[in-house]
Amino acid sequence: MGKLLINGGHRLHGVMRASGAKNAALPVMAACLLTSGDVYLKKIPSISDVWVMKELLEALGASVDFDGAGSMRINASDVHTTRTPHDLVKRIHASFDVTGPLLARFHRAEVSLPGGCVLGSRQVDLHTRGFMALGAKIDLGYGFYRVEAKELKGTRIYFDKSSVGATKNTLMAACLAHGKTLIENAAREPEVVDLANFLNAMGARISGIGTTDIVIDGVKTLHPPAGEYEIISDRIEAGTFLLAAAITGGDLLIEDISPSFLDSVIEQLRRAGQEIEAGERHIQFRGVRPILGVDVTTMPFPGFPTDLQPPIGAVLTTAEGTSIIKETIFDSRYAYVDEMRRMGADIKKIDERTILIQGVGQLTGAPVNGMDIRAGAALVLAGLAADGQTEVGGLKYIDRGYENISEKLNALGADIRRIENKE
Ligand code: UD1
Repeated sequence: MGKLLINGGHRLHGVMRASGAKNAALPVMAACLLTSGDVYLKKIPSISDVWVMKELLEALGASVDFDGAGSMRINASDVHTTRTPHDLVKRIHASFDVTGPLLARFHRAEVSLPGGCVLGSRQVDLHTRGFMALGAKIDLGYGFYRVEAKELKGTRIYFDKSSVGATKNTLMAACLAHGKTLIENAAREPEVVDLANFLNAMGARISGIGTTDIVIDGVKTLHPPAGEYEIISDRIEAGTFLLAAAITGGDLLIEDISPSFLDSVIEQLRRAGQEIEAGERHIQFRGVRPILGVDVTTMPFPGFPTDLQPPIGAVLTTAEGTSIIKETIFDSRYAYVDEMRRMGADIKKIDERTILIQGVGQLTGAPVNGMDIRAGAALVLAGLAADGQTEVGGLKYIDRGYENISEKLNALGADIRRIENKE
């Protein structure tokens, strides 16, 4: 597997522009199955999850052109099957996002249980509950969910847990349902908002976007948005870079990002003694030494994002004093802890959900392995600050979610070399 060789100790300095958001691009691509015309998308990140979603849509019969530089055209007029190939679905969890659109437009979907990062048990029971509430019948056989409905009917759906994926899937299915649907306790993540805005641009009638109560008035058909639809910026990528600047004591201007996407992260960094100025569409960061220990609890948006828990964990290993991290979203998101200990970090597991970090000031380089996207990113951050060379394995996971991470960090003064499989 490919790896990154990082020579640590370089302060990051400069300007970066956030890529398009992975977690908005994937469902928006899936939502293109809801219509038959040409849909033009802008700011689609060239990350491996996007390429897998492209293959998945093509396997269903859609045609997808992607220039790898942001522009994508999707046409789903020739969809000839509603059964997704398992070898693609197992590679990305978000592949389950095609279920709602297939069900809404073709009245059935056969989707194998999704794969993705190993973050603990990742069920889809809330998604299926959403579909059933809309009137679908669901069978599970040979690892495939078969979801069918002659007609979806608007209804009231209450999710007892906030789920980004279930909200997106139910939203997409309900757009073409007969009558009004109310989703209560809907997820409020900016990527859910972007998907809803995209659906409205296609003629859907969704209100309450960005609140926990989303109302969808079903329409008969959807059409491609007028012109190109631009995906929002990736707050997780931007947050990772802010934390990279923090761990190296650097200064960084992030352009083209709405700071409100990152309020909880900005707040924590300020508590950790760092200087941040948030503008209309930019964030200016200035690193201050020492970094102060802080306590972090992950929460649904607008709380601290679980996807930035491993990266902030890396930063706090070098802080002054102790920090406590509590992960409330996923039940297995501390895979990076053992790896970081190999770099000299002092981290104790209090229980399955909680770790206590005693800052050590300086990490040392070591060969380490990131086994999911964000664990990999956290180890890259540790490597940027470590004394000596760090070899971060598991590059294929990092590539799932970060566009050109080594090039972007090197442009800010890091010293990272990418070693592909063949070397
Ligand atoms: C999405 C993001 C992921 C992010 C997560 C939380 C994408 C492609 N991925 O994942 O990067 O970390 O939101 O912000 O957008 N759950 C159930 N039953 C379900 C669905 C979820 O129990 O049917 C649980 C999950 O196991 C998890 C929690 O609910 O513990 C939140 O999951 P969810 O918000 O659905 O995350 P994803 O959509 O999978």
